[in-house]
Amino acid sequence: MDVKAPRGTQDILPSESEKWQYVEKVLTNLCRTFNYKEIRTPIFEHTELFQRGVGDTTDIVQKEMYTFKDKGDRSITLRPEGTASVVRAYVQNKLYGLPTQPSKLFYFGPMFRYERPQQGRMRQFVQFGVEALGSADPAIDAEVMALAMNSYQQLGLQSLKLVINSLGDDASREAHRNALMEHFEPYRTALCNDCQIRLNQNPLRVLDCKDDRNHPAMKNAPSILDYLNDYSSTYFEEVKGYLDQMGIPYVIDKNLVRGLDYYNHTAFEIMSDAEGFGAITTLSGGGRYNGLVADLGGPETPGIGFALSVERLLMALEAEGITLPIDQKLDCYLVALGEEAQKEAVRLTYQLRKAGIQVDKDYMDRKFKAQFKAADRLHAKYVIVLGEEELQDKIVNVKHMKSGIQKEVPVNELVDYLNKELQGGNEHD
Ligand code: HAM
Repeated sequence: MDVKAPRGTQDILPSESEKWQYVEKVLTNLCRTFNYKEIRTPIFEHTELFQRGVGDTTDIVQKEMYTFKDKGDRSITLRPEGTASVVRAYVQNKLYGLPTQPSKLFYFGPMFRYERPQQGRMRQFVQFGVEALGSADPAIDAEVMALAMNSYQQLGLQSLKLVINSLGDDASREAHRNALMEHFEPYRTALCNDCQIRLNQNPLRVLDCKDDRNHPAMKNAPSILDYLNDYSSTYFEEVKGYLDQMGIPYVIDKNLVRGLDYYNHTAFEIMSDAEGFGAITTLSGGGRYNGLVADLGGPETPGIGFALSVERLLMALEAEGITLPIDQKLDCYLVALGEEAQKEAVRLTYQLRKAGIQVDKDYMDRKFKAQFKAADRLHAKYVIVLGEEELQDKIVNVKHMKSGIQKEVPVNELVDYLNKELQGGNEHD
């Protein structure tokens, strides 16, 4: 049997998973400071949710979904993103009825897209995202962008660029749509097959086509910013004003359209300009989606959010040479000598663990010296030695590895002793 993990997926081994845990901890704490609460939704949903939510004409829905029939003959899809699911949950659970509006939610979880794998593009990847539902205040657009930028800055990243655009409201989009159709019509046959269809269905999608990116007609395509009506352009001005007030730098890219259909008004992406980051420079993206809640059966409710993938975040950390401050040390390792001491070691290890002390012992029948080596490999801060003599005297020998200082400690005082030592006592490293 030669079964490997499917293409575009990865195993996250212990040396890496500690980084993931650290990142999750920092981002969860960031959400706490911004007052976003966690929501967990299913990994699969009815296919229709994404067809309607993400949009029938998007690449995600047309080409990238993991869709299958379950045994009840229902069409099920592994979620390609989190927003549609969160909005579904918001509607289904009537979160709009709660007095605490806007509903500010965050999530972590695996997403699935059948894309051509390359560095930073996986078929299963983990998104961290936030959604703020129920407010059309431009200040919350700025809040979400601030949170997005902080997600990276808190981890030490610096080579970041916040790129923003406005996609306007329905009326502005309609005017822009007509202008795009008119603009691209003469070039129709020179565009890729997909774009010829997009031109009829959703000409905005032509602007983010990977194949036609360098077509000359792209350069002077009508910009949405020239079609914003008063409400939309005032809204955009206010969003920018709040970013200025918070001191968050940004650049405007009038060609930024995003690959999902639900967006209107604010759209943004965060890029890495770190050297060596690779071909894909987008770290995260988001925007406003004022029609989505109603489209999915809820009351007319505005919303905005963003998502990043942890995979690309870790790549960016590597590109900027940032090492996360992960404590890889083990508090204690218990070295036991002799048959009786080994037995006592099982009891003592368990007693320490129950007291919340991190401790491990030998299970490989190692000799005394080899047990010390094992303790070293695990970067044990303290080694507790238990031999026949110590067993008789009901003591152990505790060695602080860094200083080499040893101390005899009565077994019944060991928990207290270690707790004192570990909690800011003598353990300064
Ligand atoms: P998205 O731009 O499709 O937006 O994805 C957001 C982020 O997910 C990307 O910027 C990228 O970091 C990551 N990502 C996407 N596809 C992959 C992949 N195949 N491999 C690795 N990372 C990937 C959304 O998903 C929206 N739901 C964001 C949002 C939330 N908008 C409003 N609220």
